[in-house]
Parts: sequence; C-alpha cells; structure tokens
Amino acid sequence: MIIAIDGPAGSGKSTIAKMIARELGFTYIDTGAMYRAVALKIKRLGINPDDPEAVLEVLKNTQIDLKPSEKGVKVFLDGEDVSDKIRTEEIGKIASKIARHKKVREILVQMQRELGKRAKNAVIEGRDTGTVVFPDADIKFFLTASAEVRAERRYRELKEKGLDVSYDKILREVQERDRLDKTRKESPLKPAEDAIIIDTSDKDINQVFRHLIEIIKNKIKK
Ligand code: DC
Repeated sequence: MIIAIDGPAGSGKSTIAKMIARELGFTYIDTGAMYRAVALKIKRLGINPDDPEAVLEVLKNTQIDLKPSEKGVKVFLDGEDVSDKIRTEEIGKIASKIARHKKVREILVQMQRELGKRAKNAVIEGRDTGTVVFPDADIKFFLTASAEVRAERRYRELKEKGLDVSYDKILREVQERDRLDKTRKESPLKPAEDAIIIDTSDKDINQVFRHLIEIIKNKIKK
C-alpha cells in the first residue's frame, strides 16, 4: 500500500507523514531529503544550481540512501550522514532550484519508485508523489496552509531553537519557495485530481493526524 502526501513547505506534511508511517509500521520516504542531499553536494562543489547539465553530472556520480531511524529517516550522501546538514533554509532554496531540471527529476523519481516498490507499504512525502512518482497510490493527501501560518510555524520552530529570526524574512522565503515550486515547468506543486485536500491552517498536528488516520483505516477496512 502506498500513501502519498504532498504539499508546500511548512504545511506539516513531514511531521504527519512520519507519524502515520510509525502508526502503521510503514516505510517513510522523504523525497525532499533527496533533493536536499543533492543540493548540499552542489553547494559544497560550488556548482551553479541553475545549470542543468552540471547538476545532472553531479547527480550521476552521487549515492543517496534513506535509512529508517528513531526520528523518521536518516539521509546519507555518498555514505556520509547529512541528516542535519540538509535542514537549512539555504539548502531548501538550492533544492528548489535543482528540482526545476527535468532530467534531475527523472533520476530522483526513478529512485523514489524503487524505494516504494521495495518497501511494499510506504508513506511517501513531497511535492509530486501523488501526481508523478506514484500516480496509482492507494491514498493521496494534499496538505496546505496559508503562507502566513506556515511562516509563523517556521518562525516559532526557529525561535524555540534559540535563533534570532525575523518573521517578515521567513514569510518572504516561504512565498519565494512557493513561487519556485508552483511555477516550474516540470511537475509543479499541485494536488492530484484524486487527492484529499486538507487545510491545516487552523488545526494542530494531532487533529490532522487523527483525521488522516481515520480516512486511511476506513480505506484499509474496505
Ligand atoms: O519538502 P522539502 O522542503 O524538504 O523539499 C525541498 C525542495 O525540494 C522543495 O522546495 C522542492 C523540492 N522537491 C521537489 O521538487 N519534489 C519533491 N517531491 C520533493 C521536494
């Protein structure tokens, strides 16, 4: 069984996908982490993320592994654990840029399909998992929330970590990443026609989780 969860940055999809995978004992596949791992390598090598050929060349010589862990998943780039290093705004932005290239997407999508098939039961999360990676997924969710709410969540998360951040700057970053993800030619961020759309703006994570689990369990019973 494949459960696909897509949505913009900050919609809560990663947290929810991990919770669901744990509850059901399914494999959790974080597709964004794969784009982020490539982005980190691109940055380290000083390569221009807007150059499709150069990014593709790097990707062809890159090994990305996702391994289940307590927190959800550990991400390995050429054998190095980069799980924390890929979680910065800067890497998110570079990931968004390299994700615009058709051939880069084709390679990563292929890897994601293989991971899904190997897992048999998986929760796969990203931007195009219900539209492109697994168009035949058993259940598709599209989580969304207003840009303001998503920026507010990110702001609080960073504040709690003790970082000195500006809400306005985060809001601008959220809007910019939405723009990049929605306007790209290849697999733009949009809900699959048969996706269940859930606005999480005025719900907390536990409410969203319970709602999704109920839908999934009803589907499993049928
Ligand atoms: O979900 P995330 O923030 O970790 O994703 C980082 C970037 O990777 C996102 O801005 C766009 C890209 N991405 C994508 O194009 N397709 C996916 N399935 C997942 C991520």
